[in-house]
Amino acid sequence: MKNPDFLEMFKTRDLYGLYRELAKDGPLYSVNEKLHLVLGYDLCFAIVKKPDTFLSAVTPLEFLKETYDIRIIDAYVDYLKHHCQVLRNSCSTSDPPRHTVVRQILNPFFAKERLAELAPFVSATVRRLLGEMQRRQETDRSAPVDFVSHFSRPLPVRVICELMDLPDLPVDKVVEWTDSIVEPFGLAVDREAALRCARTLCEAQAFFRRLLEGEKDNRFVSELTRVADRVQEENGDYRLDAVDLLTILIIDFLASGNETTTSALSAGMLLLALDEALFDTLSARPELVPNFTEEVLRLESPAQGMFRKVAEDCEVLGYRFRKGDFLNLRFGAANRDERRFECPHEVVLERKHPGRHLAFGAGRHTCVGAPLARLELNAAFGEIVRTFRSCRLACAEEEVAYQTNFFGRKISFLPLYFS
Ligand code: HEM
Repeated sequence: MKNPDFLEMFKTRDLYGLYRELAKDGPLYSVNEKLHLVLGYDLCFAIVKKPDTFLSAVTPLEFLKETYDIRIIDAYVDYLKHHCQVLRNSCSTSDPPRHTVVRQILNPFFAKERLAELAPFVSATVRRLLGEMQRRQETDRSAPVDFVSHFSRPLPVRVICELMDLPDLPVDKVVEWTDSIVEPFGLAVDREAALRCARTLCEAQAFFRRLLEGEKDNRFVSELTRVADRVQEENGDYRLDAVDLLTILIIDFLASGNETTTSALSAGMLLLALDEALFDTLSARPELVPNFTEEVLRLESPAQGMFRKVAEDCEVLGYRFRKGDFLNLRFGAANRDERRFECPHEVVLERKHPGRHLAFGAGRHTCVGAPLARLELNAAFGEIVRTFRSCRLACAEEEVAYQTNFFGRKISFLPLYFS
């Protein structure tokens, strides 16, 4: 198979059918000699648990050299070099010693007590957005409401902006800044789109650089700088500079959680709209909402595929890997592995271990924002089944629009009638 065909394949609507096809002969599918897709739960899990052998610092740029028109990326990087900064790797795509330092800086911002402080804001925002949707629906009963633009996009943006002490940043601006990072990573941009992303990223950098330089008071940035100083005093293995801090702000805080949480909210809402009995069960038994959240994450893993690079020749669960090989861990496929999950394609509210999926990864790189994402998802689904009696899709299921790329997929438009 030629590589461009391989990237095209992931634009299919029937992603899970594609995974079944690719995994026909086993949990490892080789696209070519150097690039392998890991589709089974056990193999994905074993690999993430060996982070020194399977490294994360694989920038898409490095991977793209094998599979993509590298001139597009050259143009993107050139633009950044000349107009702002080429950012460092995200926390997720770093290895020690940088990863250790960055992760220690991020951890306290997602600690239990911190999230308990944020919880009332999350609930209030959920209620406010649902109330606005309800009023919209009441004004014109024949017009459906788009759940993506009115709920699943603004909620994570408002929440992360609250955490970052940026309550006035417009949702659209944050989404645009997030897209400028996520889109090139999804391997689906042409040259023009890549340059647009680079221009937008420079704008985001200018905004955060001003905050870092103290031009405007920001509680969060002051705290981040203090935490970063303390972590570096305790762990001198990696010295952070201004570009590292810019990267942490823009990628690890602002962008990492938006797109993924939006995807999960929309995917869960679609499941509720398609299954009246499920909606009724959750209304009657709201204690099952957290299990529903886990099933949404398992079934529609917003981070479908993450890269690794093999550091040394090795064998895992009988599969041999060679130094320098690239792996793409398809968490979305692993989470529907029938050897691991009974009825893998169905919502099962009373699974024995509802949270044991790979939607947030596992091991060293387990999602630092997972508790925040769970807080938002539980608050949202809980309030939806409490507020509304039912909900119905305003188009055929086949007409629900998806935006797909190699990293993941998200619903881009979800018209609904609530009652
Ligand atoms: C439903 C929502 C989310 C999903 C499905 C998700 C998924 C993931 C996954 C799969 C990883 C591990 C990547 C790997 O092993 O290569 C990860 C890491 C990460 N996520 Fe999330 N994430 C979500 C929400 C968030 C939020 C809300 C934030 C922060 C605001 C966030 C920030 C991060 C960061 C910084 C990492 C890197 C952790 C590390 O490498 O140590 N994520 N996420």
